[in-house]
Amino acid sequence: MSKLAKLFRGIGSFIKGHPFISLLIFIAALIACTGITYELMHYTSSPEFCRKCHPNEGVGPLAEYHTWSNNVHAANGVECIDCHSSSPGAWGYMKAKMGGLYDLFAELFISKEAKLAKLSRFEGNPKESAALVGQNVCLHCHSDKVNIDNRKAHVMSFAGVAMRQIDRVVNPEFRNIFGLRDIITERSSYTSDPNHSLHVVENGALCADCHIKVSHSGSYYSNIDMQTCFDCHEIKRSEGKKPAENDNCVICHATQVSVQAGVAAQSFGVEDVVWEMASNDCMDCHENAFDRPSRESCENCHEEGYAELKDMFQENFDEQLVKADAFWSSHLKDRRQLTRSKREIFNSYEQLLNILKNDGSRGIHNSGYTDKIFEHLAVLEEEFTDGGESVGEGSETPE
Ligand code: HEC
Ligand code: HEC
Ligand code: HEC
Ligand code: HEC
Ligand code: HEC
Ligand code: HEC
Ligand code: HEC
Ligand code: HEC
Repeated sequence: MSKLAKLFRGIGSFIKGHPFISLLIFIAALIACTGITYELMHYTSSPEFCRKCHPNEGVGPLAEYHTWSNNVHAANGVECIDCHSSSPGAWGYMKAKMGGLYDLFAELFISKEAKLAKLSRFEGNPKESAALVGQNVCLHCHSDKVNIDNRKAHVMSFAGVAMRQIDRVVNPEFRNIFGLRDIITERSSYTSDPNHSLHVVENGALCADCHIKVSHSGSYYSNIDMQTCFDCHEIKRSEGKKPAENDNCVICHATQVSVQAGVAAQSFGVEDVVWEMASNDCMDCHENAFDRPSRESCENCHEEGYAELKDMFQENFDEQLVKADAFWSSHLKDRRQLTRSKREIFNSYEQLLNILKNDGSRGIHNSGYTDKIFEHLAVLEEEFTDGGESVGEGSETPE
């Protein structure tokens, strides 16, 4: 008799002789295996694991961990595996894990050149981008309707255990944590929202048409390029549609318009500020859409010395921005643990800060107003530190 047969025989008679103990051992082994599998699944889904084969610094192929780690999604706990699967839910997760096996195979058997070539095909290609990460994945977190539809259509967890964050996302609760809008149904008064519903739902635009490299551009927020708006609009014009004219700055630049008019932060309780230069058109200063007016351009309309005034406004702005940015980033990590009132203050803080950043002129469009917004940020900072009890009670500093 072979050794193996002897072993099986021995096990067989042990089970017969000790059925109860055998059952216990079996259950314990099963639990241990599942535990190991669970841990293994978890570990092989972590950004740290992905980094082992996607380790480069900078931007571009193989630097995905690095770019992700600098991005708004990473800062708010959205991980690789939340975006990189065919769909939310348990099955999407399993499919992603199987795709991972192919990654492993490719790591061992394809050349470095072939790997880089494969990973380069997303460069400036929205269709490839959308094929890799579907809109239903993005919209699971960024819209309520798609979130509900997905949760109806897919089994979201294995026996109640969701393996990753996206499978636990329930909207609108999730959006509310971050003060995010439902991009399909809500327009924003404080960003230059191009009307997502018109583009995405009515005209079939892809997220990546405008937000290419949403997680891998190397910057914190997605870097939208005005030229991509113009390129597609040019094509659509030839198809008989009527998108915004390129010279119609105000239809797209809602943030700059409302900052210049001194009303951008009205809904946050910031006092309006009418600026002497409010009546200037965008194109009085900007020669064309891509022109950033120089310091000398001030002296086209004003006497000498106004170039220095531009520097002064911008330095004053930058100084305040550094402080506000420091407060914001120091609390970013614990935003999920904040009490509701603190969270509301924090989200307002972030949105106001984004108005200041998105405007892009560093105070020039209305320096009196940007100063006012900074003052309001200081008030929010105090309320936040005091525990957030006085939110909404009109504790603005009297002027
Ligand atoms: C063992 C090494 C290895 C690990 C670990 C690894 N990858 Fe990859 N990955 C590769 C290789 C090699 C390729 C290129 C070949 C291919 O398409 O699979 C790749 C390609 C990709 C692609 C592009 C797929 C495509 O269709 O071209 C994505 C997305 C990706 N990996 C994400 C991840 C994520 C997310 C993780 C962590 C959960 C991860 N990878 C972990 C080696 C790895
Ligand atoms: C698991 C949920 C989740 C998924 C999936 C997800 N996001 Fe996000 N997204 C977030 C969170 C959370 C924020 C951060 C909100 C904040 O800090 O204001 C965010 C912020 C953003 C922003 C605003 C910041 C910026 O860059 O301007 C954009 C745009 C965005 N996501 C687009 C996308 C796109 C496109 C996809 C799909 C490729 C996607 N998101 C997938 C949760 C998600
Ligand atoms: C036509 C171009 C375009 C398309 C297509 C598009 N976006 Fe946007 N998106 C923008 C612009 C422009 C902004 C505003 C940026 C700003 O002012 O900060 C924005 C803002 C956002 C924000 C931030 C919202 C907030 O509350 O501040 C999210 C999230 C977002 N987009 C997600 C998506 C997702 C997901 C898709 C695909 C379903 C998508 N976008 C498709 C252009 C687009
Ligand atoms: C917010 C969603 C999101 C997150 C989070 C995310 N990615 Fe991506 N990733 C994308 C999208 C969308 C693309 C398609 C190309 C593009 O637009 O950047 C992509 C492309 C890739 C590619 C293809 C090659 C390339 O460079 O374009 C790899 C590999 C990859 N991601 C790996 C990762 C890894 C590893 C992580 C985590 C460390 C991660 N991604 C986190 C959305 C995401
Ligand atoms: C994929 C193609 C595509 C891209 C990219 C695109 N647009 Fe559009 N845009 C359209 C179409 C189509 C229309 C609608 C024209 C119509 O209804 O006749 C439109 C219309 C508009 C309008 C007019 C809306 C109104 O209410 O009249 C604005 C504003 C606009 N786009 C802003 C933007 C901005 C900002 C970007 C870049 C961030 C952008 N678009 C990128 C296709 C695009
Ligand atoms: C179709 C919509 C649209 C129109 C029309 C438009 N812009 Fe833009 N513009 C954008 C978007 C989107 C961005 C990128 C915003 C961002 O980075 O958040 C941008 C960026 C810019 C930038 C800075 C970045 C760069 O790419 O150089 C300037 C300056 C600018 N616009 C000025 C103008 C002026 C002036 C006009 C009118 C002559 C105008 N724009 C018309 C949508 C538009
Ligand atoms: C009084 C002159 C003036 C007027 C009027 C004006 N701008 Fe500006 N704008 C500037 C200056 C100066 C800058 C900062 C340029 C710099 O320092 O790089 C700027 C910056 C910008 C930027 C940011 C560019 C970047 O680098 O991201 C955008 C976008 C912009 N303006 C759009 C507009 C729009 C849209 C209007 C009309 C609502 C407008 N501007 C009205 C002078 C003006
Ligand atoms: C297209 C012409 C034009 C340009 C370019 C221009 N301004 Fe003005 N500015 C005006 C007008 C008109 C007023 C309001 C009338 C007045 O009080 O002189 C004004 C008012 C002002 C005021 C408040 C009143 C005063 O004269 O002190 C300041 C400050 C100012 N501008 C600074 C600047 C700076 C800095 C720049 C360059 C970034 C600039 N302006 C570029 C036309 C312009």
